[in-house]
Amino acid sequence: MIPALAVAARNLKSAMVDNTEIIIRKAEMDDAKAIAELHKKVVTEINSESYSPEAIEEWAKDISEENVLYQLQNSDWIIAEADDKLVGFGQYSVADGEIYQINVDPNFLKKKIGKKLYDYMESKFRGAVREKISLNATLNAVGFYQKLGFVEIQEIHMGLIKMIKMEKSLR
Ligand SMILES: CC(C)(COP(=O)(O)OP(=O)(O)OC[C@H]1O[C@@H](n2cnc3c(N)ncnc32)[C@H](O)[C@@H]1OP(=O)(O)O)[C@@H](O)C(=O)NCCC(=O)NCCS
Repeated sequence: MIPALAVAARNLKSAMVDNTEIIIRKAEMDDAKAIAELHKKVVTEINSESYSPEAIEEWAKDISEENVLYQLQNSDWIIAEADDKLVGFGQYSVADGEIYQINVDPNFLKKKIGKKLYDYMESKFRGAVREKISLNATLNAVGFYQKLGFVEIQEIHMGLIKMIKMEKSLR
């Protein structure tokens, strides 16, 4: 049995959603496979509504457990869990002043899981006294980030994938 104190130390934040406890914690190497699987699911089921099949194919082919494992060493990752199941994740770098992505399981949308992941990350940027947060939003997520206080800066293109650069001032 895992000692209660060890569990408490691992769980960074928790909240209830539909009577299910949502736990936000730092991602570990063991989470890489589930993160890659969830990311592929999100790209094919959510992002596909805003992008062409060719763009989705280009996007999905770069998502793998190996790629996540590599990136876990170069940036900060957090995950949201419900009943020990991965339901969302976020990737960011306080040093670079950037949020790279927030993804939520298509079956758990609009339950404030994306906001919980964001709030955790924003607290880290504020803790490091960063003046702003930058990100490249997918077209489908622009409204989500606007609700969180981000404004549109410019369109950017990554191959076939169009995104919107957005920023939020923390001053
Ligand atoms: C964007 C995403 C992370 C939102 O996650 P979520 O858990 O459903 O969002 P939340 O429930 O925390 O929503 C917080 C607020 O934003 C709103 N919102 C959520 N998704 C939205 C969207 N796509 N467009 C506009 N508003 C949105 C909610 O209604 C809620 O508003 P409220 O506070 O007035 O009630 C999720 O849709 C997702 O994973 N999308 C695909 C991946 C993606 O493109 N991520 C962005 C990569 S940069």
